[in-house]
Amino acid sequence: MSGPRSRPRALITGASAGIGAAYAERLARDGYDVVLVARRRDRLEALAERLHREAGAHAEVLAADLTDPGALAQVEARAAGDESLALLVNNAGFGGYGPFVQVDPEVVDGLIDIHIRAVARLTRAALPGMVRRRAGGVINVASLLAVSGPVPPDPLPHRATYAGAKAFMLTFTQALAGELTGTGVRVQVVLPGLVATEFHTVLGMDLSARPRMTAADVVTASLAAFARGEVTCVPALEDASLLERLAEVQRSVLKAATTPTLAGRYRSG
Ligand SMILES: NC(=O)c1ccc[n+]([C@@H]2O[C@H](COP(=O)([O-])OP(=O)(O)OC[C@H]3O[C@@H](n4cnc5c(N)ncnc54)[C@H](OP(=O)(O)O)[C@@H]3O)[C@@H](O)[C@H]2O)c1
Repeated sequence: MSGPRSRPRALITGASAGIGAAYAERLARDGYDVVLVARRRDRLEALAERLHREAGAHAEVLAADLTDPGALAQVEARAAGDESLALLVNNAGFGGYGPFVQVDPEVVDGLIDIHIRAVARLTRAALPGMVRRRAGGVINVASLLAVSGPVPPDPLPHRATYAGAKAFMLTFTQALAGELTGTGVRVQVVLPGLVATEFHTVLGMDLSARPRMTAADVVTASLAAFARGEVTCVPALEDASLLERLAEVQRSVLKAATTPTLAGRYRSG
């Protein structure tokens, strides 16, 4: 039995595990139909069947490797052509950690493809319809490592490409939010810390002894923040005023863009 046609639809990437699966479960329970995207079709089909049975959601499976341009194009077409699309969740990702000079160049490509190209292209595909309908939103799941640039590796991982790609998601979403003001469409970037999913297992790391947030709590924070219109959501950050202070510092540094004179420390003699 499929849900009533009036149900809004959410397209979630990386829905076969972890945070993406948690978004799918929560959104299905909240009354959404869902389009589930990831590579592992068997897992998506099992989840779709369960969401249908337990939440009455119509759950569609779209098996796709988002690093493959042809597969990405199919997901773009699905997002662009869906008049009921109310939410796009760009969540698929992987860590690819390692010292940059040793990391496989194909892993570098994959990190850029999934966290940058797929996010930008799917958002580009979904937004025109949402803007036309004056409704909807995009949630991009980045990472707190997006703001980790000045921190050396150890104990944080070697992460130059991953953190750089997640920083793209942060700046991309924040800048886009400015463009979309007044359109009725919202965008949000989520910066989780350590979360108990398969993310580190895929990397061969065992962090089960470390304190980790649940994927469900990440989703709870994200959707609460989304309802409040918060563009940047850090699920574990108690003092949210730090985000405004960070933005204030960025605005101050940015003022140099319109200053024609060389800073004193660079003037010779
Ligand atoms: N766990 C953490 O501590 C943590 C912290 C901060 C941010 N994040 C971010 O949260 C997001 C979700 O990660 P997670 O923690 O839930 O990890 P996860 O349990 O490993 O899930 C990752 C998901 O991404 C999908 N995926 C990976 N490569 C893909 C590809 N080439 N094409 C399509 N789908 C692909 C996987 O599905 P298939 O393998 O079936 O394709 C899976 O559904 C990621 O963007 C990650 O960077 C995680």
